[in-house]
Parts: sequence; C-alpha cells; structure tokens
Amino acid sequence: MSQSLISMKSKRLFPIKKNFIYLNHCGISPLYSGAVKAAISFIKCHNRYGMNVAEVYNDLLVRFHQAAGKLLQTQEENISFMKNTAEAMSMISQSFPFQEGDEIISFCHEYPSNHYPWILTASRKVKLILLGNVQPKHFPKESNVCGWSMEELEEKITPRTRMISLSHVQFTSGFTADLKRLSHLCKSYKNQRIFLIIDAAQSLGSLPLFPEAMGIDAIAASGWKWLMGPIGSGILYTSPSLRSHLGFFMAGPELMKQGDDYLNLKWLPHQDGRRFEYSTSSYELVAQLLSCIEEIFLPIGIENIYREIQSLQEVFLEHIDLKRYRHLNFSEENSSGIMSFVVDSDPTEIVQQAKKQGVFLSSRAGYLRVAPHFYNTQEEIIQSSKILNSLQI
Ligand SMILES: Cc1ncc(COP(=O)(O)O)c(C=O)c1O
Repeated sequence: MSQSLISMKSKRLFPIKKNFIYLNHCGISPLYSGAVKAAISFIKCHNRYGMNVAEVYNDLLVRFHQAAGKLLQTQEENISFMKNTAEAMSMISQSFPFQEGDEIISFCHEYPSNHYPWILTASRKVKLILLGNVQPKHFPKESNVCGWSMEELEEKITPRTRMISLSHVQFTSGFTADLKRLSHLCKSYKNQRIFLIIDAAQSLGSLPLFPEAMGIDAIAASGWKWLMGPIGSGILYTSPSLRSHLGFFMAGPELMKQGDDYLNLKWLPHQDGRRFEYSTSSYELVAQLLSCIEEIFLPIGIENIYREIQSLQEVFLEHIDLKRYRHLNFSEENSSGIMSFVVDSDPTEIVQQAKKQGVFLSSRAGYLRVAPHFYNTQEEIIQSSKILNSLQI
C-alpha cells in the first residue's frame, strides 16, 4: 500500500472514524476534512471581502474543470459542474433534438435521477424502453433486484434507438455494467449513432471510469457519494460529439462568451461544458468538491483506490458469516464498491442494530449494502464483520 494511501486513513482527515465504522459510501459519504477547510476559507473570504471573493476565486471553475478532466482522463472543456445527477441527465434529455418515435433504452430499476429525466421526453412522443430485471442463476433465491442483460439490450435496439442510459453501478445490487461492451454495441449498430449515457453516481470515485477510452458520450454523477464531497454537487462529462447535437435547456449569463459584459445581449453561447453552467454556481460547493479531487483522487490514483476497496471487501468476506449474510457474488468485471447481501431478517433492522454498535450500513430493495472506501482500515472491516456476526436478530 502506498504511503499516500496510508496517510489518508487518518482520523484527522476522516473524523467520522471517531463515531462510526462507516461503510455507507453508496448512501451519503462523510465529508472529507479538506473539503471542510476549503468551504471555511471560501465563506470567510466572502464574509470579509464581499465581492472581492469573485476575484480571489476567479479561476475556481477552471481549476475544477481541469481536475475533474484529469480524473476522467479527458479535456477540461468536456466537464461541467452540476448540482446532482438528475440535473445533469435533465440537461441532456431536454436539450437533445429527439424526433417523434425516437427511442431511449434504460433499465426498469434505475435510480429515479436516471429515469424521470427520460420520462420528460414523452411530451415529444419519445418512447422509453425499459430492460427487465435479470438474476444470475447462482444468486440466493430471495434476491429480487439485480441488473439487466446484454442479450436483451441487443434485442431491444431498433433503427429508432437514439440513446442508451444506464447506471455504471446499480444502487441496489452493486451490479456493474460492462462499459466497453456497451459502447461497442452502441458504435457497431448498422452505422446508426446511438449515444451512451452513464449514471456514475455509484462509481465515480471508486471505479476507474475513462469516457474517451471507454467510448461513453455522457457521464452524470453526484459528488457526495464515492467522491466524498459536499451534498448538492455533481459532475457532468459530455463528449464534443454529443454536444454538437444538443440545443439549450437552461440559459443565463454564464452560458455566454461575453461573460460580464451584461449589456451585450447577443446570443454567443459557449460550446464546451460551460454551456451547462448557465449562471452563477455555488463557489463553496465547487471549492469543496475540487479539494476532494485534487487532494484525494488525483494523488492516490483511481486504480489504487479501487484496488484498496477490493482488498477491504475480501477481508470482509473472509470474516463475515456467509451463511447468514448471503453475498450477491458477481464476477470480477460486474463487481463494484457495493457488496449486497440477502439476510433472513429485515435488513433495515440490521442497519439500526449495527448503527447502535457503531457500524454504519444501509439497505435498499431488501438488501443489506456494505460499502467500504479506501480510508477504511482492515481492523475496521474485521471489527464490523464481528459485530454483524454477533447481532441477535
Ligand atoms: C445510481 C444513482 N444515481 C443517482 C443518485 C443520486 O442522484 P442525484 O445526484 O440526482 O441526487 C443515486 C443516489 O443514491 C444513485 O444511486
């Protein structure tokens, strides 16, 4: 394990450790201490210097675009700061020039932020086609929500398919999509352009995700899960090719190239990712999310982070009672930061009992979700499995 990773496991950087063994990074992550510092610096500057804050933080969004661009291995012009995943998805669904009868393919159990934005396209008579749920045969029989199949997806593509919008990682089961295969499918369909849109709320900050290398047209993610950032922050990646098809959904001064020349009301929109940051963004939130990316994810490297998550998961699986906590055991390419378990009792009750004993977990769709992150230690993981094994429920 690298020195930078070891030094990141400290209580100073993650004081949540004083209160809990925190294994709920698929829910809301505790805010990284560096982000708290960045927020305080910004607020103090605003408080003491008023409008000068705009000058001091003049390059903040540029730095954010650069850092998020490095994280996703793309150019800064492809990045936009967003409030959340749903805002980013809505930007695409509302600004894409769908024609009556066009089709979008998604999954029947997507998180609402990757469902309702597509429902909005019904007013333009666009059809939302939902893939059904598929369970691997070896899964516990009580498991009910899992993922979709590439075979069904292939069958559902038609000459009217314009977009496929799926989560990289399913929030219920932790099922991870094979993005390379997905993008190959989109690119190889009879010379037809099918755009691949990915909800990365459950992967950005935990799994390697490189849209250009993987052939993805858009990525929408929130900042307060695996990125350890503030609530109300998010990232949108768009490829130049997708942007060249998009119109405008939201408009304001930040959309325009003339910047603060406010009496110049010509329509001169940015063509890069700034076109989605239509007006004043929350500098405080940008500064916080930037500190997470610059201080955690870029120095450690996302591959190292995922490797650490995997090794913590292995430790958990070695120590947990697997007869009582029945793991949805995906193959390596379909695994993620989320381990989901089928249990005999009510998983929400287990979450409550574990919390009383200092272990923070979550439950969704009848599963118990265990989601450690890079700053957890092996000792914490062993301790949490002992506590879970000893619960009398
Ligand atoms: C797959 C997925 N997408 C999106 C989100 C969050 O959406 P938003 O950023 O719009 O709040 C979640 C939160 O649990 C999620 O699991």
